[in-house]
Amino acid sequence: MSDQAERLRRLMQQNTTDSVPLPLREGKKSDVRARVLGWASGKGGVGKSNLVLSLAYALSDGGGRVLLVDADAGFTNLALLMGEGSAPDLMDVIEGRISLTEALVRTPGGFYYTSLATTLETYVATEDHAKTVQLESVLRQLEAWGEIILLDFGAGLSALARHMLAAVDELVLVITPEITSLSDAYALYKWLYRIRPELPVYVLINRAQDEKEAEQMYTRFSRIALSHVGGAPKYLGFVREDPHIPQAVRRQMPFYTAYPRSPASRDIRHIRARLSLAWEMYEAQGGADAARGGMRGLLERLKELVRRGEGWL
Ligand SMILES: Nc1ncnc2c1ncn2[C@@H]1O[C@H](COP(=O)(O)OP(=O)(O)OP(=O)(O)O)[C@@H](O)[C@H]1O
Ligand SMILES: [Mg+2]
Repeated sequence: MSDQAERLRRLMQQNTTDSVPLPLREGKKSDVRARVLGWASGKGGVGKSNLVLSLAYALSDGGGRVLLVDADAGFTNLALLMGEGSAPDLMDVIEGRISLTEALVRTPGGFYYTSLATTLETYVATEDHAKTVQLESVLRQLEAWGEIILLDFGAGLSALARHMLAAVDELVLVITPEITSLSDAYALYKWLYRIRPELPVYVLINRAQDEKEAEQMYTRFSRIALSHVGGAPKYLGFVREDPHIPQAVRRQMPFYTAYPRSPASRDIRHIRARLSLAWEMYEAQGGADAARGGMRGLLERLKELVRRGEGWL
């Protein structure tokens, strides 16, 4: 391991909450590939949408150009959590009703937001080749709107959404201390590991009582995964149980802006720091395969997975 990687590894262990600069990929504008970070869970309702929304604000605060995409087929929870009644959908772009620029909403946090919610389902149903080509073109163009693309997947994953999940650059698996959440996440991880063992997966423990409980949960998960699956995800950290989150939901605001000093917001800043360090470490080890990343990389892998007809669990 290089000195830099060793230094970063030590920083990761120190639970730092200091602001860490985001290591963004360099290159000519047209070559830059975004980092596509998927958010998933086994069981639904574990906090993905709330966490990813607040993290988008935190990453944007830290200087990242963020694009947040609702990929929860059929639902547009992210728009509701931001106080927006309806969200433009990329399907409207594909069908020519609005332009791509109109489908991208600038949020008060300075980052962009759009929805794939109905698009994914239509893509599965369509046999219209022209529409498929159009969808691919729209997805590719998203790259210009963010260096960090956060995809929030719902709990009820369609076959295509599952394949898309497996095709991202990196995946965050959200788990709560409930046994059902742990076992469902394990089933998802097992499937992901079988079809794409090289996918970097991070575990985030949500609704933990404290750091100790979160670490115990992660250790339990990774031990089972290591002995039964052959690989284990990395630990991204935790967000504690915090009544400010449901309060913010009621106000239709992200908890990070509604209650910036709440314990959950502090935890989100911590997650941002750990994510930045993980990315920096990844780059330092020369592991980033930028040429296969971003939305273009995702589409290539998605097509490959659909062609292979990978089953589910
Ligand atoms: N750390 C937390 N402390 C307290 N309540 C929380 C916490 N995280 C999430 N919640 C509550 O859990 C509920 C579900 O959260 P959210 O909608 O973000 O889950 P989800 O995983 O996106 O759900 P789905 O799978 O349906 O998309 C919310 O009403 C929120 O108030
Ligand atoms: Mg959700």
